[in-house]
Amino acid sequence: MCSVVGYNGSGPCRQQILEGLARLEYRGYDSAGFACITTASKLHCVKAQGGIDQLRAKIKMAQDDGIDGAIGLGHTRWSTHGSSSENNAHPHVDCRRTVAVVHNGIIENFAFLKEKLQLLGHTFVSQTDTEVIAHLFEDELQTKSLERAVLAVVSGIQGAYALLVMSEKHSDYLVAIRKSSPLCLGILPDQTFVASDVAAFIDKTDEVVFLPDESFALISKTGYAVYNFFGERIYPPVEKTVCTWSAEGKGAYEHYMLKEMYEQKRAIIDTINFLRLHKSTRMQQLNLSADMIHDLERIHFIGCGTSWHAGMIAEYFMQEVAHLQTQSFLASEFRYKKFFSCSRTLTCIISQSGETADSLEALRLLLASKQPTIALTNVASSSMVREADGFLLTQAGQEIAVASTKAFTAQISALFLLAHWIAHIKGLVTTQAMARAEEELFVAAEVLENSIERYKFDIISKRAPFYARYKNFIFLGRHISFPCALEAALKLKEIAYIFVDTYPAGELKHGPLALIDAQTPVVIFSCLDEVVYKKLYGNAQEVKARSGHLIVFAFEHQQELLALADTAFVFPKVNPLLAPVVMIGLIQFFVYQIALVLDRPIDRPRNLAKSVTVE
Ligand code: G6P
Repeated sequence: MCSVVGYNGSGPCRQQILEGLARLEYRGYDSAGFACITTASKLHCVKAQGGIDQLRAKIKMAQDDGIDGAIGLGHTRWSTHGSSSENNAHPHVDCRRTVAVVHNGIIENFAFLKEKLQLLGHTFVSQTDTEVIAHLFEDELQTKSLERAVLAVVSGIQGAYALLVMSEKHSDYLVAIRKSSPLCLGILPDQTFVASDVAAFIDKTDEVVFLPDESFALISKTGYAVYNFFGERIYPPVEKTVCTWSAEGKGAYEHYMLKEMYEQKRAIIDTINFLRLHKSTRMQQLNLSADMIHDLERIHFIGCGTSWHAGMIAEYFMQEVAHLQTQSFLASEFRYKKFFSCSRTLTCIISQSGETADSLEALRLLLASKQPTIALTNVASSSMVREADGFLLTQAGQEIAVASTKAFTAQISALFLLAHWIAHIKGLVTTQAMARAEEELFVAAEVLENSIERYKFDIISKRAPFYARYKNFIFLGRHISFPCALEAALKLKEIAYIFVDTYPAGELKHGPLALIDAQTPVVIFSCLDEVVYKKLYGNAQEVKARSGHLIVFAFEHQQELLALADTAFVFPKVNPLLAPVVMIGLIQFFVYQIALVLDRPIDRPRNLAKSVTVE
């Protein structure tokens, strides 16, 4: 999930490209690079380990080289093949340093191609899969036109790619090639941008061409021409796009994650209001008729990471409110499992970004077998919105920190409302009950924020420094609090780098109980279902009986459980289905403070990226 940005037009390109890359750093930030063709038709390339700031510094050092031009490309990297190093950073060049390539995706047959090219005398300097593309172009451009060379290269490579290529030989052209990975052009009369995401150029133009799958564009100074992989000219539409990019920084907050945690109440309220006020648009966007809803037998959720957890929580909404059988799938697992087409199964793909490769491919699989689909995402211009049969948009605003916070609570809110709309159409809930559901969400948003405020000082001064000393944790939940425990654990792993094992609490006695000791705090997330609560209380006793250290997130009236806790966080009673919403804010804050004590790079944890556009 690297990002690529390119420019060809009237102005110098460097500033434009670096600005674009800075906005796409959420896709990867372990190294970055920039190349351009100068007015003397010479190719220049600068690379740096680290992010755009490191790249800017590197360019500054070499500034008397005059590294700028009318045509250029850049890259931010999230390593797949080869470690994070300057050598492995993109752009990659050919043996003669006349061709430069940046790539997002994976070239699956690169090892075979590399060996073949080496036998032909090509010298490789990196461990990446991408470098083969530069050498392939080097060969093909000896004898072929630019267009023919592109067709020859794509016929020999397998995998997913968004590629930008330029060469001294065709110094007026920038080539953009797309298979599976997203790529779009930003159109202006005398300049063309190209990037993995519209956010890279949305401040310059909102006229966008989303390159169709398996197509490429030859971008000149005055325009562009698009072709399919058969070499036929095609004319994808120019669309006006909306993008949630905001130049707003962190403000007074130390990290984006903290800011975004505090934006959750707003994100929930905005999502509810948007979906309420735009009722007719919302139904059109969802593309679900009343007949379809009456016929529905099942609803499936598919997602990755935090979005998968949102789906697991929504299972309870759909079962209990809309009386639908439900199941959640991890996109990366779903893709390789047998599935049975059924027109009465609606699948909701959940993805904050709308670009996650595994989720997108799962969606495409379902579309190919004519299964009804909707995409729940936070990004209106995303691939999933364009490709799914219908969509539902959350209004969380742009989320920058890698660890998802407000996007998650906005997803849960939208799914809670979706369950009620479906139930209403099925005649299961009244209009008043729907209004009550919205009210309950408002209350949950309020409690979420108040809980952070209530425990803030205690966590900062005492709890976080104390718990930051532990190396391992066990998280337990049951029923709807189990996915909440999974989400909490993901946060602790992602931003604090602390190991957590998470179980449905009933599983404790089937193995994990052997791990209980005073060195491994056990965190129990309670729930408001009375029967399940009693079982959780039993599990807490099992932990205490073995001298376990217990942290409890529970509700005011759950005194027996709270009495067992070494550390307790208490919440007021809300709609039982919204228990995860009220607890998650405080969990995020607790984990954030632990990560702060440990001095972790919270917004950009090691090895991760915000948008995972590779499998
Ligand atoms: C990455 C992020 C996670 C996120 C997951 C799914 O792994 O680090 O925070 O939950 O992708 O992203 P999506 O955009 O599909 O919700």
